[in-house]
Amino acid sequence: MKYIIGNLKMNLLSPAERERYFGLFKKELIGEKFRGTKIILCPPPVHLESFVNNLKSRKVAIGAQDVFWEKSGSFTSEVSAWMAKNLKAEYTIIGHSERRKYFGETSAMDNLKIKAALKAGLNVVYCIGEKREERDNEMEADILSIQLEEGLRGINSSHLGKIIIAYEPVWAVGTDIIPTTNEVMEARILIRKILTEMYGSKNGLKSAILYGGDVKPDNVEKLCIEPGMDGVLVGRESLIPHEFIKIAQIIDNN
Ligand code: PGA
Repeated sequence: MKYIIGNLKMNLLSPAERERYFGLFKKELIGEKFRGTKIILCPPPVHLESFVNNLKSRKVAIGAQDVFWEKSGSFTSEVSAWMAKNLKAEYTIIGHSERRKYFGETSAMDNLKIKAALKAGLNVVYCIGEKREERDNEMEADILSIQLEEGLRGINSSHLGKIIIAYEPVWAVGTDIIPTTNEVMEARILIRKILTEMYGSKNGLKSAILYGGDVKPDNVEKLCIEPGMDGVLVGRESLIPHEFIKIAQIIDNN
């Protein structure tokens, strides 16, 4: 199974804008049959319910962009994994680099969030990736190991099939700079190695590994297909249904 995940971030500012998006997205889906590709859209929390009502189908699943680790209580503005699940979301992103950068989120906090999400019955898209200066200092292997070990600490191998790892080099997210095919492939091999060291050679294969960072129809071949990734996490292009579905078609056809 391949995954195309759209992270709509803090966009779609009004109900009108959201309705326009639904219209464009539904038009793109007409006659579209994906054989081995799952499309997952992650809207801002205020739009979660209407995305479920308007786009959730056999072709499209809906996810949250983040969840908090407590179930309920005095945690102003947070969204719990159970809330997302009760609105019929099936996935949640956790540990996105923008959460880490702007909100001080650590892998230890992500660990609590992942555990809560799994407990609530959500699938998890756990984002990891090194910063530019970390790559320049050849620290990416250490960074990826720490993020995986801390983020997945105490999580049983029986859950691994419900956890997707998204490799997003921080320097490629929201920029126009992309890694080479080789760099993505090396990261995939490294992540797989860390997972098999943590969980054994059979269980370590259970998590899909995606690429994220400036994915577009014209680079998806180089960033996903050639390096053997199991799909992509898409930011900006997910706001343009035509481009987003084009990315899904390219991946599904390969
Ligand atoms: P981008 O974002 O595609 O706009 O670079 C990717 C992401 O944040 O997941």
